[in-house]
Order: sequence, then C-alpha cells, then structure tokens
Amino acid sequence: MNPKYAALTALIAALLLAHPAAAAPGDPDKGEAIYTQRCVGCHGDEGDGMGPGAERLNPPPRDFTMGFYKFRTTGFDDYVPNDADLMRMIRDGMPGTAMPGWGDLLSEAEMWDLIAYLKVFGGLEEEVPTDQVDYGEQVATSAESIAKGKALFKDRCDECHGASGKGVATKRLKDDGGARTWPRNLTKPWTFRASNEPRDIFSRISVGIPGTQMPSFADPKSKKILTIEERWHVANYVHSLAEATQVVRPENTVVKAGRVDGGLPHSPDDPKWAEAEPSTFYLVPQIIARERFFTPSNDTITVRALYDDTAVAILLEWDDRTRSLPGDPGAETVAGPGLSQDAVAVQLPAVIPEGMRKPYFGMGDAAHPVNIWHWQSGPADGVESVRLFDARGFGDLQERPAGESGLRASGVYDAGTWRVVMLRPLSTGAGSDIQFSEGRFTPIAFAAWDGSNGEAGSKHTMTTWYWLLLKPPTGSRPYLAALAVMILIAGAQVWWARGAARRRRDGET
Ligand code: HEC
Ligand code: HEC
Repeated sequence: MNPKYAALTALIAALLLAHPAAAAPGDPDKGEAIYTQRCVGCHGDEGDGMGPGAERLNPPPRDFTMGFYKFRTTGFDDYVPNDADLMRMIRDGMPGTAMPGWGDLLSEAEMWDLIAYLKVFGGLEEEVPTDQVDYGEQVATSAESIAKGKALFKDRCDECHGASGKGVATKRLKDDGGARTWPRNLTKPWTFRASNEPRDIFSRISVGIPGTQMPSFADPKSKKILTIEERWHVANYVHSLAEATQVVRPENTVVKAGRVDGGLPHSPDDPKWAEAEPSTFYLVPQIIARERFFTPSNDTITVRALYDDTAVAILLEWDDRTRSLPGDPGAETVAGPGLSQDAVAVQLPAVIPEGMRKPYFGMGDAAHPVNIWHWQSGPADGVESVRLFDARGFGDLQERPAGESGLRASGVYDAGTWRVVMLRPLSTGAGSDIQFSEGRFTPIAFAAWDGSNGEAGSKHTMTTWYWLLLKPPTGSRPYLAALAVMILIAGAQVWWARGAARRRRDGET
C-alpha cells in the first residue's frame, strides 16, 4: 500500500478506537494504586473523606461513598456526574479548598483510572447520567442583560449571597454532613470551584450545588424557578461582579503612599482615598505560634496609604461576611458559640532596618522589636478601639497608651466589607515607636480576625512582610534637588572619564 494511505488508515483506526475508549476508559485497579499514593491523605482509605488530614480542612474532603458530587453538568434531578465533570475537578482542582489540581502531576490516562476507582466507592460503575443541563441559547452579556440579571438576583439570591454578592450572612448555613458552609463571595471569582464564566455560572444555578444549601433554579417544583433566558441574565450579572482591585498581583509588594496636600483622610469614606494606589495581599492562617488555626474565612486584604508633612494614614479593606458584634442577638445566631470582635492589625519594625532587609518573620524578636497597631470593632453596646503594643516575639506583648503616640483608627462596615483607617504622626516622642521617613522601604505586615469564625487571640489570618514606601512626589523640590545632584554627579563622572581617556591618549598618565 502507498505509505501515505497506510499512515492515513492507521490514523483513522486510532481515531475510531480512541472514541469508544473515551466513553469507557479507566482501569479501577490501576486507579486504586494511584489513589493510595495520592488521595488517601485527605479522602481516606475507605473513600469516606476521613483521611488523616481531613479534620483540619474546611470544607472537608468529599466522602465518595455518598456518590454525589458538587460539580455536575447533568440534569438537576440526576445525581450521576458526567465523566468529564469529574475529570475537570481532578485535573483543575477546586479553588478555595484544599483539593489540588492534578493535571501537572498525573497523566490523562492515570486520571481516567482514578475516576473508574472513585466510582466503585459510590457504586456508580454502571450508572449513566439520564439528563444534561439545557443551556438553550446563550444570551450575550450587555448592560441590558446585566440589569435584568441584577433584578432577578435581588429576588432569588440576596437571601444567601447578600445584595452586594459578597455573601453577607444573615443565617447559618450547613452542608448535608452538618459542616458549616458559607455562601460564596461572588466578587472573588478565584474562589469559585468551577469558574465565573457565564456558562459555568449558568450550570451552577441550573443544577445547584449538591450536598449544600445552594439550590437548583431549573427545578419546576421550585417556586423560585428561573427560565433559561433568565438564568443567562443572572449569569451575566454574577460574572460582572468580579472586583479587579481585590486580585492579588504577586509583583505588588510595596504599598506606595502618595504625598497629599490639604490634610489626610481620617475616615474610610473620604473621597481623597481615590488618589491612593491599592495593593492586595493574601491573608493566610496563622500556623506558627500557639493555638494553630486552619479554617479561615477571610482570604485577602487591600491596603492603601497617604501621607503629608505630619502624619501617615493607612486604609485597610477586607471582605468579611459577618459584622461580629458580641452581645448582638443577630450576630450571635450567625456566629454560633464564641463570638468575638472583628479586628485588624498593622505590624511595623520599631526601627526601620538598613537597606532592603526584611529582618524576621512573625512578631519580631528580642533584638528586633515590632510595633503592633490593633483595631477592634467593638461590642454591640460599646465602641471601636485601637491599641498599641510592642512585641518581641510571640507571646511577648507589652501594651502602652495608643494616644501618647497619636495613633488613631476608625472603621466602617458596609455590605460585607470592613474599611478601617489608621493614622499616626510621622514622628513621635517615644523611643519605642517607629519614626517614618520619606523614600525609605519600611517593612509592613497585616493580620485580621473574623470574630464570627472563632478567630481571637493567636487564631487569625496574616500576611507575610511587604513594604511601605512614603513616595517622594515627582516634581517636588526635594525630589528635583536629588535628581539635580544625581545629574551633576553623572555629568562629573562623564567629564572625568573623558578627561582620563584624553590624558591616556595624550600619554599624560
Ligand atoms: C489535601 C487534601 C486533598 C487531597 C490530597 C485530595 N483531595 Fe480531593 N478534595 C479535597 C477537598 C477538601 C474536597 C472538597 C471540596 C469542596 O467540597 O468544595 C475534595 C473534593 C474532591 C472531589 C469532588 C469533586 C466534586 O465535584 O464534588 C473529587 C472527585 C476529588 N476530590 C478527587 C481527588 C483525587 C482523585 C485525589 C487524588 C489524586 C484527591 N482528590 C486528593 C481535598 C483533597
Ligand atoms: C439558600 C442559600 C442560597 C441561595 C438562595 C443561593 N445560593 Fe448560591 N451558594 C450558596 C452556598 C452555600 C454556596 C457554596 C456551596 C459550597 O459550599 O460549595 C453557593 C455557591 C454559589 C456559587 C459558586 C459556584 C462555584 O463554582 O463555586 C455561585 C456562582 C452561586 N452560588 C450563585 C447563586 C445565584 C446566582 C443564586 C440566585 C439565582 C444563588 N446562588 C442562590 C447558597 C445559596
């Protein structure tokens, strides 16, 4: 046979073989070996979600013996997922949870083997989905569609996700296993288990999230049913909620404080904050010292700063689904036992280190004390407060009066977001206070507490060290003077170098 045809025939044969293989791939015995190596730590030997790591995870690892999955694109009253749905969760992982993506570590064939094995736990080997999500005709996004979606959202979704979509909690939600769940903050697409593409949002609201209180809006038995077209409008609206300023950009390691005239903003609502550049950082659970903590509810903090001749103001902004007011009956119900105040803290070295050195992790040490500015939201019958501490390591905290250093703070809670301004003079009389200076890279770190999530004391979230820079204004006289000196020096060097070259040429040296 002509070699060209032979190759073509082989290709066609391979394609024909590949197709049925994709529908019934996977060898459960091979899958078991990979499962034992990679998955038991969380999902357990028996596939019941009781691996040794499980108790520290929220949400807990899936119990495969139940046979239901949170991500499905099959009909709302089906319970069997498509193989492709399982493949997607295993390959890409489930953002916002401990479930990692395996696409970089395992081959496609190994992942099919795993799927075949997982089905054995739930008795799903022989099951085939009976129904698929009906996408109808996708409605392209537009201002009009988003407006329609917003109105429907208010009616159907507000009660759990809140008017802002940030998931402001008005009631306690649990999954079918009894574990506490929180409605998703829809302004943070990186926490979606699937994605915030309209098609994924459409399938989520059509199917709901099995095992949780997130309902199906395609179920004709539901009073809240949405038509296909309405679901597209809602999906377009939810997609539009993503907030760009909250995205962590790894290259943003410096909080740049701009210099302002005419007074610093004392309140979080001051329009002057629009002049400040935001930087967003990940908040991670505090797991270094004392009581460790693994199940945080806040994941990022956005920081802005401004300064003038006399003081520096820092605006801290973070989403928190609950305003935690101890003593308030509503807050107590949502929080459950052990409600504490919400809080935030800024940590700075008592002395700015030389050069670009980030000297120590954690809360300083004996040789490198830190200042901690600690704001608390206040109880229902009280007011917010700010406290000042000197720390020399975990557990070694000395409080002194914040007022003596001129430290002030004021916070506002609105629609799922705290915004707190902290303000302090650039220099103070106290030797143990940091003295700020323009143009120097100053280490800075942050911590936050969600009092409705059992966070108090050493149980909290925190960032690593970043930098605060009081940025000399471009065009300002000191800056221009510095620039002029630089140009003079550079010019002098060129002049000297040229002179030296000429002297060499002329044989003078
Ligand atoms: C570090 C812990 C951890 C490891 C290791 C882990 N998982 Fe998971 N997995 C989770 C958690 C937590 C969830 C539940 C997430 C949720 O409920 O949103 C989950 C959920 C799942 C789901 C459910 C998807 C759905 O739509 O509900 C599948 C399937 C899954 N894991 C497969 C695996 C496989 C296969 C492995 C091994 C290759 C593995 N996991 C390893 C933590 C882990
Ligand atoms: C009764 C409460 C409730 C209602 C009503 C509700 N949700 Fe949810 N929603 C939840 C919970 C709880 C979760 C998180 C489930 C989990 O633990 O994974 C969630 C998760 C989501 C997600 C995340 C999907 C992902 O991939 O992670 C989206 C999107 C969403 N909801 C959209 C909506 C929209 C749109 C509506 C209205 C049409 C709505 N929800 C109504 C409780 C609700």
